[in-house]
Amino acid sequence: MTSFPKRKCLMIGAGGMASAWIRNFFPRFRQRMEIVGLVDINPDALRESGDFLNLEESKRFTDMAIAFEKVDADFCTIVIPPAFHRDAVRLAAGKGMNILSEKPIADSWEACLDIVKMVRTSGVKMQVVQNYRYTSRILTVKEVLSSDRLGRVNYIIGRFADDYRQRGAWGAFRHEIPHSLLVEGAIHHFDQIRNLAGADCEEIAGWEWKPYWQQSFDGECCGLYTAKMVNGVMAQYEGNGLEGGQANGWHHEFYRVECELGSVEVGNDNVVRVYERNHNLRMEEIPNVRPTFEGHNGIIDQFLNWLEDAPEPETVITDNIKSAAMLFSAIQASQSGSLVNVAEMVTEAMS
Ligand SMILES: NC(=O)c1ccc[n+]([C@@H]2O[C@H](COP(=O)([O-])OP(=O)(O)OC[C@H]3O[C@@H](n4cnc5c(N)ncnc54)[C@H](O)[C@@H]3O)[C@@H](O)[C@H]2O)c1
Repeated sequence: MTSFPKRKCLMIGAGGMASAWIRNFFPRFRQRMEIVGLVDINPDALRESGDFLNLEESKRFTDMAIAFEKVDADFCTIVIPPAFHRDAVRLAAGKGMNILSEKPIADSWEACLDIVKMVRTSGVKMQVVQNYRYTSRILTVKEVLSSDRLGRVNYIIGRFADDYRQRGAWGAFRHEIPHSLLVEGAIHHFDQIRNLAGADCEEIAGWEWKPYWQQSFDGECCGLYTAKMVNGVMAQYEGNGLEGGQANGWHHEFYRVECELGSVEVGNDNVVRVYERNHNLRMEEIPNVRPTFEGHNGIIDQFLNWLEDAPEPETVITDNIKSAAMLFSAIQASQSGSLVNVAEMVTEAMS
């Protein structure tokens, strides 16, 4: 087995999802990395995760600027709300520190553009966490699509629906920010549509909204969108943060890929089903592939390998900006009531 140097990580965020990184994901990689500094503005979250890590007091910070100044690390992991991602990237890039960041890149297109620029100018490596590409259900769908069994892809249907009718049910900040479904939810689903289509998005049209009768969200929590990919594949997306009926929540989203010779779908029960018609309709359940590392663990493995000079992972910033462009084009499409050219936004980001 190849042995790599143990990489040092400055962890930005200690509560919420960061708590899962610290307790569930990173421990699996303890031979390859260690957290040497921890930041959170919430002293309770900082203490609880700091104690879990057995981290000395001098390595715990409530201000990330001080942490970046004092801690030497090979990379930082950013797991705080999107509104603060740009500040963290600025500090990391300024110090030449590599970055593993939770999605979305940032909470505005302007902040995304700044981040791309800072990363490219500084030459640091940055990967964005799009863990749902590496779940066993989606890897199985991808395997069916790449086997050519169903021929060419025609169009994709994607559905996410969860019950956040109770204010705070989706984590406090998501009920307060604008465009909550798109910024915090649909970024995963748009990225997945790119992944399943095997192509980037060319144009998008549709609406996001918040029903006047609900009090749970300040921002838009529902969305219906149609996207055209550069290879001609079409996609339809339904997103609902107010589901009162049949849900398709996290890890149970519904995807159906309609192809030349049949279709493949996965939904609530996580069983991948292929449908083919030759006079009669035939259905086959496909056994799920079992990768060594799934979801977040898959991303961490890729990132640590990349630090050792393995090839660039799929979700590097220069690729993930194309999913972010889809997200911010979707917001623009809704505001203007028109079709938005996503490809032009990507060109703007990369110029
Ligand atoms: N990939 C996934 O499946 C997944 C799931 C959940 C969340 N996320 C992402 O993780 C990130 C964090 O989301 P969350 O649900 O953990 O949010 P959260 O509101 O629970 O915040 C996480 C922690 O960040 C701390 N924090 C907030 N602002 C800070 C700042 N300026 N400096 C230092 N610490 C700060 C908070 O005190 C909290 O402990 C978001 O980007 C979100 O989209 C990803």
